[in-house]
Amino acid sequence: TTKKAVLLTGKAKRVSTTDDPELLWVEYLDQATALNGKRKEAIAGKGKLNLQISALLFAELKAAGIPTHFVSAPDDDSMIVKRAQMLPLEVVLRNYASGHFETKFHVEHMRPFTPAIHEYYFKSDALDDPFINNDQILALGITDADTLATVRHLTDRVNELLTARFAGIGITLVDFKLEFGTLADGSLVLADELSPDNFRLVDKDTGASLDKDVFRKHEGDLQPVYAEVLRRLQASK
Ligand code: C5P
Repeated sequence: TTKKAVLLTGKAKRVSTTDDPELLWVEYLDQATALNGKRKEAIAGKGKLNLQISALLFAELKAAGIPTHFVSAPDDDSMIVKRAQMLPLEVVLRNYASGHFETKFHVEHMRPFTPAIHEYYFKSDALDDPFINNDQILALGITDADTLATVRHLTDRVNELLTARFAGIGITLVDFKLEFGTLADGSLVLADELSPDNFRLVDKDTGASLDKDVFRKHEGDLQPVYAEVLRRLQASK
């Protein structure tokens, strides 16, 4: 597979076409953003780390039966993926209270949720990605009820698999964001990326953040923190 024209550049990834119309080339960039892109910084080595973490987790989820867009990782910072029509939704799952849930509802940090909480955000730059509920998703025709049910089921399954995987390396999976898309044959797949940019990860022993909160809260360098997550994942494969 060879890379062709750039299709779009996002906040942390660049997507290009390839010589195969069904495949896209995704480059993970050395960039971090916060506040929905209003704060942006270059971070050397971040793209490579996120690519490796993401590729490792996609491969493991795929092996566990989760349908994904992941095909291969041809080099240090790139991923070949199946072209998908993306659902314009950010699917957030919360196992514990943190982040915006904590500030919105004033509940104690890390209160556990059983069952986990599912939230949806409508991806729209013009609207600043507003919260949206199931009825609103269906009323706006963003997707249909069957697809939404599959999204929910796959998200729960991913949560079970990743919660166990991270627990095995001393990390609590607090919450995370997923995105889904449909392939040419109509099947739903897990897409986007699986990295500490999109997961809240907390060290079980020290309580330290091992994710983008380090950047969001100005707690120090992101690079060594992401490197530590990758190191633990690789050491326990
Ligand atoms: O900010 P909030 O508490 O709603 O984030 C919940 C989870 O979703 C966090 O793990 C965060 O990294 C992720 N998220 C994301 N992209 C967004 C918003 C949230 O990856 N645009």
